[in-house]
Amino acid sequence: MSESDDSVRARVAALREQLHAHNYRYYALDEPSISDAEYDALFRELQQLEQQYPALRSADSPTQRIGVAPLSAFAPLRHRLPMQSLNNAFGDEELREFDRRVREGLGRSSVDYVAEPKLDGLAVSLIYRDGVFEQGATRGDGETGEDISANLRTIRGLPLHLHGAVPDLIEVRGEVFLPHAGFSKMNQDAAARGDKLYVNPRNAAAGSLRQLDSRVTAQRPLALYAYGVGYSEGWQSPARHTEVLEQLRNWGLPVSTLIEAVHGAEGCLDYFRRMQARRGGLPFDIDGVVFKVDELAAREELGSVARAPRWAIAHKFPAEEAETVLENVDFQVGRTGALTPTARLRTVFVGGANVSNATLHNMDEIARKDIRIGDTVIVRRAGDVIPEVKGVVLEKRPSDARVVEMPALCPVCGSDVRRDPEGVIYRCIGRLVCKAQLKQSLQHFVSRKAADIEGVGEMLIDELVERERLKAPADLYALTVADIADLYKSAEVAPAKLIDAIAKRRSLPLPRLVYALGIPEVGETTAKDLARHLGSFVRIRRARSEVLTLIEGIGDSVAKEIRWFFGDEHNASAVDALLAQITIEDEHPVSAALATRASLSQLLALQQIRGLGPVKADALTVGCDSVEALMQRIDGADVGQWLDDRTAAGVREYFAESRHRQELLALEQQLRAFGVFDAQTQTADTPAGALSGRSFVLTGTLALPRDEVAAQIEAAGGRVSSSVSAKTDYLVAGEAAGSKLAKAIKLGVTVIDYDALRRLIDGQDLLQ
Ligand code: IVH
Repeated sequence: MSESDDSVRARVAALREQLHAHNYRYYALDEPSISDAEYDALFRELQQLEQQYPALRSADSPTQRIGVAPLSAFAPLRHRLPMQSLNNAFGDEELREFDRRVREGLGRSSVDYVAEPKLDGLAVSLIYRDGVFEQGATRGDGETGEDISANLRTIRGLPLHLHGAVPDLIEVRGEVFLPHAGFSKMNQDAAARGDKLYVNPRNAAAGSLRQLDSRVTAQRPLALYAYGVGYSEGWQSPARHTEVLEQLRNWGLPVSTLIEAVHGAEGCLDYFRRMQARRGGLPFDIDGVVFKVDELAAREELGSVARAPRWAIAHKFPAEEAETVLENVDFQVGRTGALTPTARLRTVFVGGANVSNATLHNMDEIARKDIRIGDTVIVRRAGDVIPEVKGVVLEKRPSDARVVEMPALCPVCGSDVRRDPEGVIYRCIGRLVCKAQLKQSLQHFVSRKAADIEGVGEMLIDELVERERLKAPADLYALTVADIADLYKSAEVAPAKLIDAIAKRRSLPLPRLVYALGIPEVGETTAKDLARHLGSFVRIRRARSEVLTLIEGIGDSVAKEIRWFFGDEHNASAVDALLAQITIEDEHPVSAALATRASLSQLLALQQIRGLGPVKADALTVGCDSVEALMQRIDGADVGQWLDDRTAAGVREYFAESRHRQELLALEQQLRAFGVFDAQTQTADTPAGALSGRSFVLTGTLALPRDEVAAQIEAAGGRVSSSVSAKTDYLVAGEAAGSKLAKAIKLGVTVIDYDALRRLIDGQDLLQ
């Protein structure tokens, strides 16, 4: 086949056209019509053809977006028309003032404006000759920019050629920016490589666009919006900016869909307020809005002053980010002893308020962002969120900047600080000896959802702790009127009333008590779940991790925290002291749900033995009434009667370790002591049925309507939930099952169809 072969040429042209069209749909319309994989396939086909037939290569091919060999420097590029900047208006009055000047300048009573988002990126100039992208530059000083053509070419939203009738030459002006999603991805990648993080999308976009190696730029998910036209040749400009924008769109350039035509100053202000409200929800940063006189002839009439036009103005939002100096880092000790680094900043006005403290999250974040004391940092405060230090302006780092170090001893109580073995958390081991932990534990204990003791506020607790009249929650119940009489000012209510309020809470419902203890990771819901299912404080305190995880909603990590809390000596004695003061209400036997889940089969399935899911665990335990009996069965010669060879081997291997046997026996013993795991002691309300204790999720089109299938499952004692988790026993999948099926497969959940469900309900063995 010769290089001029028509069919190859036609295919190459068709592929280019298709890829252009898909780029346009994706970047300009935000309405992709094919998947990324399909796009990639078309792209690769074109790439191969171009490689095979070099004569068919072309600068405006979509394959040219992958970047080219690095430059040693950017060449200067003189703008044919200067790239001006905008004057700013801060506040409504300044905006009205702008409108007044425009009206006076034009001698009109009202003016039409075009309102646009002010994109927080970098201004670029794009030259198209005969419709083909030829050259592009940064703004530079407004007169001369830098030739960044190679980098711009890699931006997928930038059309390499224009559609329809095109002028001989046209300069398009616009903004290159990095949407939030792309910014997060860049930072995730940077974190994975152990590189420094980018401070904000604007800096990341600037860094990407100023790469000398365009192959690097090609990896950055930059976007572009066009917002105007500069120089042109052979083009009859329309009369209005709105029409210019329409033309840009028709040529295939991405133009923001947030742009609106508005009328007069009030129309502008209304747009400003609507954009301010939408700002947080937009997929990219905007730092304000821009208003431009719509009529181009009127712009001519108004002209420019200095380097900014009289016909446009930027109405800025209050900055959500500001630079300031990190003067020091303090460590605050939380209720559970976790030490959180807090930035002490040179006070700066940001997001509409003065900020002098900001969170630094944790030590890993500090290391990742390479934040040092003395650094100039970027502080962000958006809406009501706690101000945070986003990153460092490295160019401004002083030579004596100090690395932030975690103190070895707690700044409050002097106890040792230890790093959580798995996590990034450092904790003071002082527990209630540490006044910071004690104060917060007490505040938590008296709070509304916990013991709900009215009138004991933060100030009173602080004073009582400082005077050492409170050393643990139990001490609250020993307080007398005399103890607080001298602190009357801090008490919101009279001392006698306060003592009364405390006395009223000598009796606590179990869920409140569990929540009030302040166990890490145990919020109100988990406390309620623990109380409902285990029924007594002793059981909650003693429950082994596996037993805790039998409760729906409690995973391994929460179970571990609960075990840690009760296993810790300090906590144990504080709990004992408290129990000596109070009575617990609402204790009851273990819940039916837990009783049914706590079956031999479930315990076995929980051991995560290779090849042994819930169905096979069911099969293996049929007729066994104890762990002892189960172990005999496993050790016996005929285990193959219940299991296939592979699973049998996995089970034998597991039980070859005596540690595993001991664990299972201990679990059994605990459950028997809890009054479950014993046919005789099962509570009366245990739903009898073949599906007792099993959880199901339904997906796809089943033989019957879903609610009927759900009713059948529930009638047989099973539970139906709406989402798949590791605790799901079965996914019942019908036709056209989608993401739930994928998730179930990923989690190793047994997938069955409706027929298999019927067999389960009828008590048949699924393995047959
Ligand atoms: S018009 C003379 N429109 O703001 C008109 N600029 O302070 C000049 N910008 O350098 C630009 N969004 O980087 C215009 N919709 C928009 C804009 C916008 C962001 C930036 C641009 C420019 C700076 C001017």
